[in-house]
Amino acid sequence: MNKAKRQAVIAGNWKMNKTRPEAKALIEELKPLVKDADCGVVICVPYTNLETALEAVKGSNIKVGAENCHWAKSGAFTGEISADMLAEMGVEYVVIGHSERRQYFGETDQTVNKRVRAALDAGLRVILCVGELLEQREQGITEEICAMQTKVALGGVTKEELSRIIIAYEPVWAIGTGKTATAEQADEVNGFIRGVVAKLYGEEAAQALTVQYGGSMNAKNAEELLGKEHVDGGLIGGASLKAEDFSVIVKAASR
Ligand code: 13P
Repeated sequence: MNKAKRQAVIAGNWKMNKTRPEAKALIEELKPLVKDADCGVVICVPYTNLETALEAVKGSNIKVGAENCHWAKSGAFTGEISADMLAEMGVEYVVIGHSERRQYFGETDQTVNKRVRAALDAGLRVILCVGELLEQREQGITEEICAMQTKVALGGVTKEELSRIIIAYEPVWAIGTGKTATAEQADEVNGFIRGVVAKLYGEEAAQALTVQYGGSMNAKNAEELLGKEHVDGGLIGGASLKAEDFSVIVKAASR
């Protein structure tokens, strides 16, 4: 029932893929395939592709996001990009707290929170990633991990600002492994995360929140996953690099 009231959003996370010509070609192929989508369509691309992507999506229903941002407004942070720099370009979304950032680049719940704050202050929409490692699932602490990551990341975020946040549940063991969570597992944890948000912001705000699933979602399994009450969309890695596959997922989310 409540699912119908929430906006479904399918977001591609291109990760470290595509040169500018390749990015342009992929977007041109994608545009006609998703033009009738009845859900939000976002592509999160490497910094070097942002300008190309913003130009290519003009006049279409595709929104552009970055894959990270720094928490400071500006300053001596060699190699980093601020949220203000993204907003000034016309970028609307930013992925924050992706498990690859946590695993390989020392991202912590605290730095995730600082980046979320900076992104909101710059006027961006945030796709906040949370999810457990395989050993954490096996230890039975999936809920504790997801609750902690969600609560710390949302520290200092107001109820009004929550409307600019999407949470993506991405079990780390399902990312890039071809090993998808079952639709039941995704629904269970997505629903649990919604419950955590309900305790912080109230039931109404939680029911309005878009909670995506990410981790080996593809053209074949999308429909089943997206059919679940608490799965309001997807954050798509590998399958977002193929226009046809990504568009099948977008169609599955359109309702
Ligand atoms: P895959 O779809 O390649 O498993 O990646 C998921 C992901 O990490 C999206 O952010």
